[in-house]
Amino acid sequence: MEKISQSVVKKDHAPKVSGRSIYVSDYPSEGVLCGKLLHAKVARAKVLGVEVPELPEGYFYVDAKDVPGDNNVNIVLDDTPVYCRETVEYIGEPIAMICGPDPKVVEQLRDACKVNYEELEPVLDLRAAQEKFFDYNFGHGDVEKAFAEADKVYEEEFETGYQEQAYLETQGMMAEPEEGGRMFVHGSAQCAYYIHGAVMRALGCGPTGVHILQDVTGGGFGGKEAFPSILGCQVAVAAHKCKKPVRCVFDRREDMEYTSKRHPSLCRYKVAVKDGKVTAMDIDVKFNAGAYSTLSAVVLQRGIIAAPGIYNVPNIRVHGWAVKTNTSPCGAYRGFGAPQTFFAVEMMMDHIARDLGVDSLAFKEAHLVKQGDTTSTCGKYHFPVPIPAMIEEIDKACDYRKKRAEYAKPQTGRYRRGIGMSMYFHGAGFTGSGERDLIKAVAKLRKYKDGTVEVLASNGEIGQGLRTTFPKIVAHELNLPLDKVYYNHPDTARVPDSGPTVASRSLMVVGELLRRAAIKLREQWVDGEEQEVEERFKEPDFLIPFYIDKFEGDAYPTYAWSVNAIELEIDTYTGVAKVLGAYGSFDVGTPIDYNIVMGQMEGGFLQGIGYASIEKMDYDAKGRIRNNSFSDYLIPTTKDVPNLKCMLHVEKYPNGPYGAKGAGELPLVGAPGAYLEAVEQALGGVTLNHAPFTAEDTLAVITKEAI
Ligand code: MTE
Ligand code: MOS
Repeated sequence: MEKISQSVVKKDHAPKVSGRSIYVSDYPSEGVLCGKLLHAKVARAKVLGVEVPELPEGYFYVDAKDVPGDNNVNIVLDDTPVYCRETVEYIGEPIAMICGPDPKVVEQLRDACKVNYEELEPVLDLRAAQEKFFDYNFGHGDVEKAFAEADKVYEEEFETGYQEQAYLETQGMMAEPEEGGRMFVHGSAQCAYYIHGAVMRALGCGPTGVHILQDVTGGGFGGKEAFPSILGCQVAVAAHKCKKPVRCVFDRREDMEYTSKRHPSLCRYKVAVKDGKVTAMDIDVKFNAGAYSTLSAVVLQRGIIAAPGIYNVPNIRVHGWAVKTNTSPCGAYRGFGAPQTFFAVEMMMDHIARDLGVDSLAFKEAHLVKQGDTTSTCGKYHFPVPIPAMIEEIDKACDYRKKRAEYAKPQTGRYRRGIGMSMYFHGAGFTGSGERDLIKAVAKLRKYKDGTVEVLASNGEIGQGLRTTFPKIVAHELNLPLDKVYYNHPDTARVPDSGPTVASRSLMVVGELLRRAAIKLREQWVDGEEQEVEERFKEPDFLIPFYIDKFEGDAYPTYAWSVNAIELEIDTYTGVAKVLGAYGSFDVGTPIDYNIVMGQMEGGFLQGIGYASIEKMDYDAKGRIRNNSFSDYLIPTTKDVPNLKCMLHVEKYPNGPYGAKGAGELPLVGAPGAYLEAVEQALGGVTLNHAPFTAEDTLAVITKEAI
């Protein structure tokens, strides 16, 4: 193993396991007002007025009228209000915040507020929803001709549900007015500078009028990409009005019902096959964005770019739309739109193979992309595509081909087995030209007189290990012991904007800036002096420029690759599927810390298995999320997958630090495809089209098919 890959004790290990870490809810409460949001109770209505009870001394009611700047939160578009406008658009939409010293009194006052609504008919159903936030089209080749010449045309629809990030720490932000009028906002977050931009706009102040600190954060998984900007604006406005620190921390129920989740999706595939090969795909991808657009544009872009899978399809046409419904706005969740479409395309390929009488693995292998091939957006796979080797690794690890053939034979008895495989990529870093045009990352190193070095960047430790891996890179280049290099939680007043902690970009993009900065510092190093060096993002010169209006060019500089296999056994009496083994080969380039990367792979894979199997969330007829606790929304525990085997396959990326590529999201993406293929096989070759596929779903199939 390379030196950089050798594992170290994570820098945040001791404070976290000992309970010494200070999360936003751990700051002392003295002098801090507790803020609680008044959430809308109906999915769509005009707000005629709010009857606020008489407020005792020191208690405040804060709403849109108190926003000194602009009542729109700066996300991708600006349709999300800080506090609601004249209407509410989903159950949970923040109408106002009650602030005061005693949380119990605040809660009573909040519950005593009477909102007068003029109810409007909500749009809840994704199928019925027509109002588009975003509508994209792209493709290449001659789709019509391919369909006209096809031997056979297949049409299917695939559906996926919500997935809740279920981070350990719920959403929470705090705002503190400072002497001189500056506002200090801190809390649980992924993207300090996103919050900075949003709060500046809400308060109507300049960049120095506010600064943002990421506190110790108990997981994000995408859920703290945009939401903290909204909550950050709400507490900042409240603190501005109350002239006191205000903290708002969600309880689990609020968090599950009202914060962003993975987009439910509906994908229609129409596929032309000629001489046993796929010649065209006509794909329609529809995402349920919820009531405001938040991150849906970028989530949808990633989803549709991945929609043809990792297969060479000469003619493609892709239509993607994110529609408005009167439900909680959906947002980022590890995988960012790709798990939905990879599930659909993997199932589609599997179903076509079955109809053609060939094995799904052989069929997929016959269509695999390779280095030099054209991507779905007419870019290029510049680097090796290691999928064939990874398939062999998986086959070796679990005897895939043999089991696949064996379980295909008719099974009888109470327990039936199946095994399935998926293959996919995760585009490393931002989609398209975001890194070059929008983020323009800057990272710095500051060396102090005593020879210690501080990393200055805006990315956040959210469990993925940055507080350790960033210093590890720098220490490696400077040949320093790891305890001489440190990375504090970023405060926008102290650190440059190296961009958000999203798209598995931080380690690959910012890590490389830090590596280069460390080389610079090494060359300029003078003992006993304070020194600072800076590096700025430069786009790799091999890239084919990406144009978002046409969806043309390299959507990603490189890709992380993976093959998953899942083997399971179904109890036909209860419908419960037991995962006997989950096998993953993952190529994320050079691991910057073996244990951290393996933790990422295992954790992400398990989240994917949850998404495929038990994580079901739905709303009732009024649009209210029904699964608002961990007894109603099940996530996998360590007991659910006793046999999880992750392997690393290393294809180095020359523009990432020591060959590292984006790692964090990849392992979640492929599980639903592999899982559902296995369920189909265990149930005797049925055709399944939706995830999650729960025990209840399995029982329904068993009853219907008399299995
Ligand atoms: N791992 C842990 N433990 N906790 C998290 O919140 N977030 C994931 C992934 N792994 C997450 C995680 C998501 S959504 C992203 S985008 C990447 O980490 C971020 O990786 P990066 O730091 O390389 O950008
Ligand atoms: Mo990750 S979903 O890009 O925060």
